[in-house]
Amino acid sequence: MSDAYSSRISGFYDRTITERLDALEANGVLTAEARAWLEAGGGLSLEVADMLVENVIAIHGLPLGVALNFCINGRDRVVPMAVEEPSVVAAASNAARMVRASGGFHGEATANVMTAQVQFDDVPDAAGAPARVLPHRERLLARGDGAIPRMTERGFGCRDLEVRVLDEALGVVTVHVHVDVGDAMGANTVDTVAEALAPALQELLGGTLGLRILTNLSVRRMVRVRCLVDQESLGGSAVADGIARASRFAELDVYRAVTHNKGFMNGLDAAAVALGQDWRGLEAGAHAWASLSGRYRPLSVWRRTADGLEGSAELPLAVGTVGGSTRAHEGVRRAFELLGVVEARELAVILASVGLASNLAALRALACEGIQEGHMRLHARKLYQSVPPPPKGSAP
Ligand code: MEV
Repeated sequence: MSDAYSSRISGFYDRTITERLDALEANGVLTAEARAWLEAGGGLSLEVADMLVENVIAIHGLPLGVALNFCINGRDRVVPMAVEEPSVVAAASNAARMVRASGGFHGEATANVMTAQVQFDDVPDAAGAPARVLPHRERLLARGDGAIPRMTERGFGCRDLEVRVLDEALGVVTVHVHVDVGDAMGANTVDTVAEALAPALQELLGGTLGLRILTNLSVRRMVRVRCLVDQESLGGSAVADGIARASRFAELDVYRAVTHNKGFMNGLDAAAVALGQDWRGLEAGAHAWASLSGRYRPLSVWRRTADGLEGSAELPLAVGTVGGSTRAHEGVRRAFELLGVVEARELAVILASVGLASNLAALRALACEGIQEGHMRLHARKLYQSVPPPPKGSAP
């Protein structure tokens, strides 16, 4: 990352695309090479697309924007976002500007531990399953490690085992194996471990072997972020009160919590898509986490402080900076360059901060003028004016 790298570029929104690229280059965010590539259209070649998935016939486009003003753990970040919904990029940038004035976002992520499940049915004496497996923990972890030598060479690998009895009468037991996957997203790694361990587990447990697959609820791969925001930046104490009330509403009501979380995921997903992450997995994990207590809850909460608000969020986030489409897709490689991130844990903190910013922007708009009066209307008007009417006789 260049020393000049800064996420503060005033008036970015009002500039032409060429002027925006000029500003990003001047701010040390884009290299000349990355700029040339973006000017040539960016995206994905048909040849690479044809290698990524099946039955390819064309490329599906999405706008690529950048969210500005982010300062996360003391470092500026320009966040690439691929999204079709108007106002997501602007809202995250505006909220990041308000938070920046109070010191930016702060956060940390746990180790990159993913979990695979091995399922057994008809296990005899299911209640005794943990006692039959756990004494062999070290041997089993070593066997798992043996299946992923490229991970263990780099100091990663199997870390722990758990045995969960899901239905004693039916003998349904699942063994969880927790694997540090380093900076990879890690799905293939944990699936490999689960398959490698299954025969040894079956010898110990008996019963019928079932699935061997990761869980997207990666509770050992968590991220936590928080920020302060001053009420003057928000537009006054009544706005801060309104946001705190909106947060409480989400804490009390599932119908509100789900929409609150959708607003949180708006920014997180947009950045995740630009960065080639498995956003379906992130979504699945986030919503499962939200409901883990038995009641679906907001991923983020906002509390009143003496002069503003404190926001915080916690969720599992299985993201990777190596492997998967992070290498194959040039647009994703460029997005990583632009963001200047190398480690998966750093990426998790950035994505969760973008989520918190999106959530703040949505609650502020809702607590003030209402969402239709805000960015949505402006952007939607601009968008729909530029879309040609459908040909006569076509479906609406
Ligand atoms: C729209 O994409 C997201 C919001 O509905 C989120 C929210 O209600 O908090 C505005």
